Amino acid sequence: MYRYSQFDRAFVRSRAAQFRAQVARRLDGSLTEDEFKPLRLMNGLYLQLHAYMLRVAIPYGTLSADQMRQLAMIAERWDKGYGHFTTRQNIQFNWPKLADVPDILDALADVEMHAIQTSGNTIRNVTADPFAGAAADEVADPRPVAELIRQWSTDHPEFQFLPRKFKLAVTGSPEDRAVTAAHDIGLRLVQQGGDLGARVLVGGGLGRTPMIGKVLRDFVPLADLLPYLEAIVAIYNLLGRRDNKYKARIKITVHEHGLEEIRDLVEAEFPARKALFNGIDQQMLAAITAQFAPPAFDPEAEGNFRAWYHADPAFRAFVDTNTAPHRAPGYTILTVSLKAPGETPGDATADQMRVLADLAERYGHGELRISHEQNVILPHVPRRHLRAIHAALSDAGLASANVGLVSDIIACPGMDYCSLATARSIPVAQQIATRFEELKLEHDIGPLKIKISGCINACGHHHVGHIGILGLDRAGVENYQITLGGDGGPDAVIGERAGPGFAYDEIVDAVERLVHAYLAHRDGPSEAFLDTYRRLGAAPFKAALHPEDKGRANAA
Ligand code: HEM
Ligand code: SF4
Repeated sequence: MYRYSQFDRAFVRSRAAQFRAQVARRLDGSLTEDEFKPLRLMNGLYLQLHAYMLRVAIPYGTLSADQMRQLAMIAERWDKGYGHFTTRQNIQFNWPKLADVPDILDALADVEMHAIQTSGNTIRNVTADPFAGAAADEVADPRPVAELIRQWSTDHPEFQFLPRKFKLAVTGSPEDRAVTAAHDIGLRLVQQGGDLGARVLVGGGLGRTPMIGKVLRDFVPLADLLPYLEAIVAIYNLLGRRDNKYKARIKITVHEHGLEEIRDLVEAEFPARKALFNGIDQQMLAAITAQFAPPAFDPEAEGNFRAWYHADPAFRAFVDTNTAPHRAPGYTILTVSLKAPGETPGDATADQMRVLADLAERYGHGELRISHEQNVILPHVPRRHLRAIHAALSDAGLASANVGLVSDIIACPGMDYCSLATARSIPVAQQIATRFEELKLEHDIGPLKIKISGCINACGHHHVGHIGILGLDRAGVENYQITLGGDGGPDAVIGERAGPGFAYDEIVDAVERLVHAYLAHRDGPSEAFLDTYRRLGAAPFKAALHPEDKGRANAA
C-alpha cells in the first residue's frame, strides 16, 4: 500500500492547521457562514439538512486496518457511532460538531487521510476498481495511476476553480467495476504491443443530463498519461461553461463542441504539457508502483476449504455470492455486504468497522477496500480462513449473503440527510430489501442491481441500475420514477424510463411486480434480469408495472 511521503505528511498537516484557524474565526463570529462556506467546502465540510457533514476521501477505495480503526474511533468519539460509505469511495460522517472538525482532521492526518477536494469545483477523489491488485482478470493494478493522479491533482494551482466538479475513475480490468463510463474522465488500462497504457473516455456523468463517456483516445501510453490528462482538464477549464451550473460539466462541453473538436484541442495542447513534465511524472509513477507490490501470498492458502464448503450450506451460500476469483492460487476476494435487509445501505457502525479491521489484519494482509456499491472488501483472503471470517462476520451482523442480488441496493442519503433531496431513498431501499427477504426469492432471482437516488442529481447511480429508482417531488408528494435496463459495466447503458412514477407506498409493490415479470419471462434461471430485459425489451415489464394501461389498451 502507498505510504505518505514527507511532503504528503507536511501538506496534510498544514491544511488541517489552516482549517483549525478558519473554524476558530467562524466560532468567534469573525467569519459569517457565507464567508466560511468556500473555506469549509475546500475541506469536505458540507451543511446538510440537520447538521454539518464531513466527507473523507478514501483514495481508490483502499484502506489499511489502522485507517479503518481510526474511522471507527472518529465515528464513536465525534459522531453518532457510525459512518456512511458512498458510491465514490468516500466515507461521510453525518453529525460532527463544527468545533470538533479540526480534531477530526488531525486524527485523519495521523493515519495519512484527509478530506481535501471532496467538495468544490476541483478534481475529486480518484476512484478505482475495488478489486485492484487482486482480481484474476486484471491487466494491471490501477492504483499506482490513481495515486499519481491524486498527487498531481491535489492543490493543482490551475485546477482549483474549474467550471464544475471533476471526477476520475480508473480500472485495470476488462470487467469495469469502477463505472468509468459515468465519470468526467474514465481510464481503462490496456496492453498494446507490450506497452501499458489507457483507453481514455471523456464526458461521462449522471445527474440531470446523464451521458456515457466517449472514447477520446484509444490508447495513451502511461508515459504520456499525466500530460494528456492535464491537456484535457486545461481545455475544459477554458471552454467549460460558467454561466449555467447545470451546463458546466465536461459532458456538456463535449456535447456542445463535439468530440472531434475537443480531441483536436487536446492533441494541440498536449506537446506543451508533455514538455513541462520533463519525465518527473514517470519517476514518481515508478516510485509509487513499487509501493503497491503485492503482499507475500501464502502458498498453503487453500487448507481445508473444500471440505467445509461441501459440508455447510449456509457457508456455501455465503461463498457463492460474496467471493470473486483472485489472481493467487488458494486466495479469494471477499465482499462484506453492508446491506443487511432493513439496514441503511452503506452504513457501518464503529464496532463493525473494528471487526472488519481486525479480520483484515488477522487474515487478509491488513488491507480493506470500499466499493462504489457501498460494500467493504477484503481483497486478499486465503480460502482456509474463510470459515473463521464467516463466523466472525455472523457475530457482527455482517454475513449477509446478498452481494450482487436484489437486496444489495445502492441508495443515496436522500431526504434523511441531504438538503437537495426531493424524496426519501434509504427507507425505500430498506423496504425493498425486507420485502425480498420475506419472499425468500433472492437467490432464485440472481444478479439484479437496484439503485436509488433521492433527486435528479443521481448520487445513487439510478441511471445505471438494472432497475433505477428516482425520487421526485410532485406538488409536495414523493413520486418515484422507474428506469429499466441501465448498466454500469464495460458497455455502460443509461436506463430507459418505464412510464409514470409511483407514490411512496406503491413503489415496493411496483418493484415486486417487475421481478415477478422477469421470473415469468426469463429463459431459465441462468438468464439474468438484464439479459431478459435486453432480449424482450421494456414491453412485458411496463405491462407488469402498469396493468391498468394494459386493461385500457385491451378495451380500446
Ligand atoms: C449529501 C450531500 C450531497 C450533495 C449536496 C450532493 C450533490 C450532488 C450534485 C449537485 C450532483 C450533480 C452534479 C452534476 O450533475 O453536475 C451530484 C452527483 C453525484 N453525487 Fe452527490 N451529493 C451528495 C451526496 C452524495 C453521496 C452520499 C454520494 C454517494 C453515495 C454521491 C455521489 C454522487 C455521484 C455518483 C454523482 C453522479 C455522478 C456525476 O457527478 O455525474 N453524492 N451530487
Ligand atoms: S441524489 Fe440528490 S438526494 Fe441523493 S444525495 Fe445526491 S443530491 Fe442528495
